[in-house]
Amino acid sequence: EKKTVPYEIIGGEKLGRLVDAFYKRVAKHPDLIPIFPDDLTEVARKQKQFLTQFLGGPPLYTEEHGHPMLRARHLPHEVTPKRAKAWLSCMSAAMDETGIDGEFRDFFFQRLVLTAQHMVNTPDDVP
Ligand code: HEM
Repeated sequence: EKKTVPYEIIGGEKLGRLVDAFYKRVAKHPDLIPIFPDDLTEVARKQKQFLTQFLGGPPLYTEEHGHPMLRARHLPHEVTPKRAKAWLSCMSAAMDETGIDGEFRDFFFQRLVLTAQHMVNTPDDVP
């Protein structure tokens, strides 16, 4: 018997729309603009690959980029608690826009909260 994975609940098309809605907000968020590149095309492409495998879909990110090592890949960027909050607020609004709700949303968002907390590598009050 085949087990349904979360990726099959959201689907590739909706996940793509979520990621686009997310980076549209990142591009406008005053706390996030300073650490993201002007052109978000490539990071959006990687994020679609990553979230596909994060939700149990095909390992698209790993196939192209190797082990995610997400915390290590974020170390060159100052991820503060304030920025983690901003990241999650952009994601929450993107979920609203894409119509992601119910139990699936709670499950997915909670996993992103944990991952975002894990990415924090700099305190808020750096002079
Ligand atoms: C890359 C910021 C959380 C997944 C990046 C980059 C920045 C960033 C600045 C590099 C963009 C570039 O120059 O290419 C943040 C901040 C976060 C956060 C401020 C707040 C906590 C997360 C979370 C995930 C994630 C929770 C996964 C669920 C990724 C991926 C990449 C990335 C997959 C591309 C890595 C690569 O280069 O292969 N992030 N991020 N990030 N982030 Fe985050």
